[in-house]
Amino acid sequence: MKIRPAKVSDVKAIHALIGYYAERKEMLPRPINDLYENIQELMVAEDKGKVVACCALHVSWEDLAEIKALAVEQNYHHKGIGTTIVATLEKRAKELGVNRVFALTFKPPFFKQLGYKQIKREALPHKIWGECVKCHLFPDCGETPLIKNLTPATKSKRK
Ligand SMILES: CC(C)(COP(=O)(O)OP(=O)(O)OC[C@H]1O[C@@H](n2cnc3c(N)ncnc32)[C@H](O)[C@@H]1OP(=O)(O)O)[C@@H](O)C(=O)NCCC(=O)NCCS
Repeated sequence: MKIRPAKVSDVKAIHALIGYYAERKEMLPRPINDLYENIQELMVAEDKGKVVACCALHVSWEDLAEIKALAVEQNYHHKGIGTTIVATLEKRAKELGVNRVFALTFKPPFFKQLGYKQIKREALPHKIWGECVKCHLFPDCGETPLIKNLTPATKSKRK
């Protein structure tokens, strides 16, 4: 199993993975053009050349980024892949100097056991809702907002 940045050649597989869960109302759909346009934000987990999970980090504001588009293929659940891909993007957030990450999710228990705390929607900057306004489920998608404060990245000490 390898976690790596997504490539444009992964987009169809990512789109299918998200679409599978979106049809089951477990996550929101993502148009394929949106995935191509935001390819640099996406990470995938690959097993034997096949994309089995995806997740994205979208910087929203100073010191705030969103963990989004998290999906793990059904046959690969409960193997720690969701946890590892989120941890990889949290590390990326810290490298970028962003120390707070949030998620809007239908699965609050998954994020809570990763240290995310439930917050009120109003606690997030208005800018975040700009994207929501474009969604066909706006204003009541039913997703729960959760946030996590990350420990700032420590500078490596050279001897
Ligand atoms: C939620 C999801 C990403 C979890 O991925 P995963 O790789 O199975 O997660 P992990 O193996 O890292 O899980 C670690 C722990 O998180 C918790 N957990 C995992 N899936 C969970 C779920 N669906 N609900 C609540 N808690 C969950 C469990 O405590 C689990 O430990 P366990 O395997 O010992 O039971 C995956 O079920 C998925 O893709 N679901 C469909 C899409 C989705 O809901 N995306 C979430 C964003 S809206």
